[in-house]
Amino acid sequence: MKILVINGPNLNMVGIREKNIYGDISYSSIINMIEEYAKEKDIEVICRQSNHEGDLVDWIQEAYFEKYDGIIINPGAYTHTSIALLDAIKAISPLPVIEVHLSDINERDVFRKLSYISEACFDRVIGLGAKGYLVALDKLIKD
Ligand code: DQA
Repeated sequence: MKILVINGPNLNMVGIREKNIYGDISYSSIINMIEEYAKEKDIEVICRQSNHEGDLVDWIQEAYFEKYDGIIINPGAYTHTSIALLDAIKAISPLPVIEVHLSDINERDVFRKLSYISEACFDRVIGLGAKGYLVALDKLIKD
């Protein structure tokens, strides 16, 4: 099983940015945690991060062409703005995509409640911090 983990803008700043919201675990520690967990479960994970919307679209398409079994995506602020990401996820259906957010986007600013990608995602995990990526992996394994 091969899973692509995509993180969007400013997620590389976790551990530095708004620690009261995102905690003080660094981005590299989150990636190590995901990779360790995947190794335990005997699955292959590739983790990518970009601050650029088009990169995220390219990687979603790549997951389809390279025959990944699923995607875990935290699109950061593009969650609330990007129809391009929604279209990309719809385009690769039925490849399962799970939306992850470190914080509980329903309990923050009103504009964060809207996720354009949600309707095309197989599931979502929000507000569990870094552990959310592992919960998402479990959901894909069980799928
Ligand atoms: C986030 C929530 C978004 O609203 C925000 O723009 C982020 C991170 C999260 O993981 O909680 O950059 O996706």
